Amino acid sequence: MSQSKPLPPGFLAESLGRIQPSPTIAATQKARELKAAGRDIIGLAAGEPDHDTPDNIKEAAIAAIRRGETKYTNVEGIAELRAAIVKKFKRENNLDYTVAQTFVSPGGKAIIFNALLATLNPGDEVICVAPYWVSYPDIVLLGGGTPVIVEAKLEDGFRLTPAALEAAITPKTKWLIFNQPSNPTGACYTPAQLKALTDVLLKHPQVWILTDDMYEHLVYGGFKFSTVAEIEPRLYDRTLTMNGVSKAYSMTGWRIGYCAGPEALIKAMAKLQSQSASNAASVSQWAAVEALNGPQDFIPKFQKIFEARRDLVVSMLNQAKGIECPKPEGAFYVYPSVRGLIGKQTPAGKTIASDADFANELLESEGVAVVHGAAFGLSPFFRISYATSTEALEEACRRIQRFCGNLR
Ligand SMILES: Cc1ncc(COP(=O)(O)O)c(C=O)c1O
Repeated sequence: MSQSKPLPPGFLAESLGRIQPSPTIAATQKARELKAAGRDIIGLAAGEPDHDTPDNIKEAAIAAIRRGETKYTNVEGIAELRAAIVKKFKRENNLDYTVAQTFVSPGGKAIIFNALLATLNPGDEVICVAPYWVSYPDIVLLGGGTPVIVEAKLEDGFRLTPAALEAAITPKTKWLIFNQPSNPTGACYTPAQLKALTDVLLKHPQVWILTDDMYEHLVYGGFKFSTVAEIEPRLYDRTLTMNGVSKAYSMTGWRIGYCAGPEALIKAMAKLQSQSASNAASVSQWAAVEALNGPQDFIPKFQKIFEARRDLVVSMLNQAKGIECPKPEGAFYVYPSVRGLIGKQTPAGKTIASDADFANELLESEGVAVVHGAAFGLSPFFRISYATSTEALEEACRRIQRFCGNLR
């Protein structure tokens, strides 16, 4: 039987037609395939730290396997991890949550998925700040909601302004998805910048806030992270504070995300997860207990490494003709503008008409894989992940400089 036989018409869910495959995963995969085919490729598309999971975390997982912690767990997560989450939110964010307010899913993405799918009805609007993490609007669409895209402009440091937030809120707004340090721009908010936004949100009691704090620990130059419910306790009852171990502890493959928020919302999310993933992997949950409760001393070490790489990439990209690269406070991404290159031609005579053309031609001619800005809802930009070796970054930036220098 042919493996490529098409599915019968109407077989696929209509909801699937509303969404795109993740463009960052697609770009990473394409780079991997080209590399496997023998091309000299530097991949700067993937959103994961390049260092290994710390040994103490791996050992905790191995010990859990040996103890036989290999069975189903509670839907909401093991008691030990939920207790560690309560402690983490108190220690690092000065937030008081009970164990019943915490929840664990297979990855941060699954937390967002559960929260939105458990709450959205047709007509509900969800504010997503562009450039956004690629999955937000698509998860909203899967849930039958309507994404409302608000632009965070380059000239505002890619930060949402109170006026833009106010203008986007309607009686139908159910959620604001708020992410900082931002993927893809690395932008962060000071307490005063956050307060200006929470003042707007206080006026609109129908709006709940999903704060995606995945990159909390990846901040540089002494920047101090703060989160919404910490800055404005009056929003505590309508804020879901989301986090995970993927980025800070270099545990992307372990698939653990967690959150805390109003108990009734947590119960609804648990109902949904009880009929889908059931629980996050038991062994990974034990690894996450060690990540949250164990030594945290490698975090500043990696902050230092990432900060040096950020400085290198920003400086080298700003020396590339036609590129403007702001210097963000956090995450491991930069989001440079290619406005100065639109309309130019490659030596082969191809016109760079969009950021997608820029990313494609860069990959074709110099073997550097980046993600084009349109994937994140704001053009003409591209995203570079600098979570890779300094040598690879230097070489990639040299190639980008050469590529830009050759455009006419
Ligand atoms: C902003 C943001 N939120 C959530 C996630 C999802 O994390 P996880 O890998 O734990 O599902 C990512 C991963 O890239 C991300 O960048």
